[in-house]
Amino acid sequence: MSGRGDSLPTVWPQEPHTKAKHDLLTGYLGAWFGILGSSPRHARVIVFDGFAGPGVYESGEPGSPVLTINRLLHHDHFSRWGNTEFVFVFNERDDDRYVSLADTLIELERAQPGGAWPSNVRVHHRNESFPGLAENLLEGLAGATLAPTFAFVDPFGYKDVPLDLIKRLLSYDACELFIYFDFNSVSRFATAGNVDKHFGALFGTDRFKDAPPAGDPARPRFLHDLYEEQLRSVCDFAYVQSFAMVNRGGRVGNYMFFCTRNLTAFDRMKSTMWRLAPDGDYRFEDRFADQDVLFADQRDTEPLKAALLQRFAGSTVSIDDILKFTIEETPFYSGQVKRETLAPMQRDGLISGGPNQKRACQYPDGTLVVFPPKP
Ligand SMILES: C[S@@+](CC[C@H](N)C(=O)[O-])C[C@H]1O[C@@H](n2cnc3c(N)ncnc32)[C@H](O)[C@@H]1O
Repeated sequence: MSGRGDSLPTVWPQEPHTKAKHDLLTGYLGAWFGILGSSPRHARVIVFDGFAGPGVYESGEPGSPVLTINRLLHHDHFSRWGNTEFVFVFNERDDDRYVSLADTLIELERAQPGGAWPSNVRVHHRNESFPGLAENLLEGLAGATLAPTFAFVDPFGYKDVPLDLIKRLLSYDACELFIYFDFNSVSRFATAGNVDKHFGALFGTDRFKDAPPAGDPARPRFLHDLYEEQLRSVCDFAYVQSFAMVNRGGRVGNYMFFCTRNLTAFDRMKSTMWRLAPDGDYRFEDRFADQDVLFADQRDTEPLKAALLQRFAGSTVSIDDILKFTIEETPFYSGQVKRETLAPMQRDGLISGGPNQKRACQYPDGTLVVFPPKP
C-alpha cells in the first residue's frame, strides 16, 4: 500500500518527546512482561504495535519495534518464561517504511544467539492500514477473545484510530492500550467543522463540538476529559491515565493515554510516568529534556498526606485499602505510600498504628492504620 499522508521522509529525526514516549513504553513493558511471563494463567501474550514506523530514527536510534523486543529479550527473568509464548505484531502502512521495518527486524533477529528468535518468541510484520488489519484480526477471532494484549497505537495524527474499533479489538479484560492523542489538532479544529468526520470516529461521539470556543481557557481540559471519559465508558477501561508531551513552545502537543482494567498494571504505569515527571504533574517538557530530574527523596508527598487524612478521617483502615485508594483516586502510586508518606505521618503523630501493627512505621499487608477525626 502507498499514500504516506505526512510530510516526513521514510526515516526522520527523533524528537525529545519521542524518547520520553519510548521510556514510558519500555519502562512499563518491563513490568508487564514480568507479570504475564511468570503467570501460569496465560500461555500466550501479544504486543500489537499498530503504527510501528520504520524501526529506526535518522541518527540510528531504535524505533518502538526494536525497543519492545529488546525489553523482553534483555529482561533479567526472560529465561524463566519458557512456557509463555510472546507474539509481536508490527504493522506499518507506508511501503518504504515497511521495508525499513522489515530490514531492521531481520537484522535484529540475525544478531540473536544462533541467528534466530528464541523459540517462544514470534515476530510478525504487516504492511496494512491499522483499521483494516484490526478488522481482519477480529474477523479471524470469530468471537473468541484475544490473548492478553498490549496495544501500542501511535499514529502521527487523528486519523485511522476509531474508538469503536479500539473498543471491539480490546474488549477482553486483559487487554491494555497505550495510545497517542493528537491534542494539538483536536484543540485547533474541534469546533472548526472541517474534520468532524474524523473527530467523530476518534472520539466515538459528536460531543467534541460542544467544546468551549478557541481561546477559552476551559477548552483544553474539556477535550482532554472528553477523550478520557470515552476511553472509560465506551472502551470500558476502568483505569485511564494520560501523560502530556509539551513542545518547545510550552504547549501540549499530544497526550499519551494508558488504559487498563487491572489495578496493579495501572500502578506500574503510574510509577513509570512519575520517573519521567518527578513533580507528579504527568507531563514531559521538551525544553527540559537534557536536565537532570529530581532525586526520589525530593518528591513532595504532602498532597497525598492531605488526601489520606481527608478520605480516612476518623476511621481505622487496612494498608491494602490505603494503597487501593492511592492508586485509584490520587495521582500517586503505591511505592510512595509507606516509607515516603505513612511513616513520616506516624512519626509526626498525624496517624497511629492499629492494634495489629508489629513495628511502628512498618506496614505489611493487613496492617491497620488509625486516622484521627477531622479537627
Ligand atoms: C508516529 S509514527 C510511529 C513511530 C513508532 N511507533 C515508534 O515509536 O518508533 C507513525 C507511523 O504510522 C504510519 N501510519 C500512518 N497511517 C497508518 C495507518 N493507517 N496504518 C498503519 N500505519 C500508519 C506512518 O507511516 C508512521 O510510520
